[in-house]
Amino acid sequence: MKWEEIDEIIKPLMFDARKKVLQSFSQQLDVQTKSNKNDLVTNMDKAIEKFYIDNLHAKFPKAKILGEESQKDKFEDSTDLFFVIDPIDGTMNFVKQKAHFASMIAVFDHQKPVLGYIMDMTAGELYWGGPSVGVYRNFEKLQAPSNLSLADGLIGMGLPMLLNPNSGMADVARQSSGVRMYGSAGIEFIHVLNGETLGYVSKLHAWDYAAGKILAETLDLTVEAIDGTDINVLSSKVVLVATKNAQKQINEIINA
Ligand code: IPD
Ligand code: CA
Ligand code: CA
Repeated sequence: MKWEEIDEIIKPLMFDARKKVLQSFSQQLDVQTKSNKNDLVTNMDKAIEKFYIDNLHAKFPKAKILGEESQKDKFEDSTDLFFVIDPIDGTMNFVKQKAHFASMIAVFDHQKPVLGYIMDMTAGELYWGGPSVGVYRNFEKLQAPSNLSLADGLIGMGLPMLLNPNSGMADVARQSSGVRMYGSAGIEFIHVLNGETLGYVSKLHAWDYAAGKILAETLDLTVEAIDGTDINVLSSKVVLVATKNAQKQINEIINA
């Protein structure tokens, strides 16, 4: 299927999802915990995932879907379109700050990456694109960020990475210009795509990185699993997205 046919369905869905989430700011949220007290899900996470799935099923009946909150089709078995959905990424920020959160969809066809979408929900900026089209912020085409070395830029990190004394990330942090922690993998990927940070490393689920990986690789950034697992197998892993120079240096540091 042509990427344009998929894109013309997904973009309006994401702007509609944004509208629904912004409208929910004035309503009482139903907040529940999942694996631990800091792992939250709200009625809006569930509603937006259902909204995406219902619409994608209606338009692409044969497609399979991996969604954070519900449907868990298997990527390995997919022989047609496959969508990976994180309805609200940065739910803690959504609940506590009503800002700094994203919504993400990744699209694969016959297991090949086709399109990635990350919506900065409060800014209304949709980062979208893929190998056949390039990467855009709404209508503006993005250039590949400059290939910064570790010492010349900021790096985003998940807190557990920094706190783990065996991860080598404290040394990575020391050799960088500084560490940033935004609390949303989607927003972290956006900063790397914009060249505001030179990389981001965190333990992530497939729905946290699938869209960002497609966009980042299209902009000549590298995305790898530093826990040694195959990055092309969609599963939970420690993921590094970075400029090529920084990726090389980070690997030297953590393997020293
Ligand atoms: C979380 C955020 C957070 C990252 C976690 C994710 P969620 O996603 O992206 O920044 O550190 O690993 O689970 O649960 O808010 O969609
Ligand atoms: Ca989520
Ligand atoms: Ca997420």
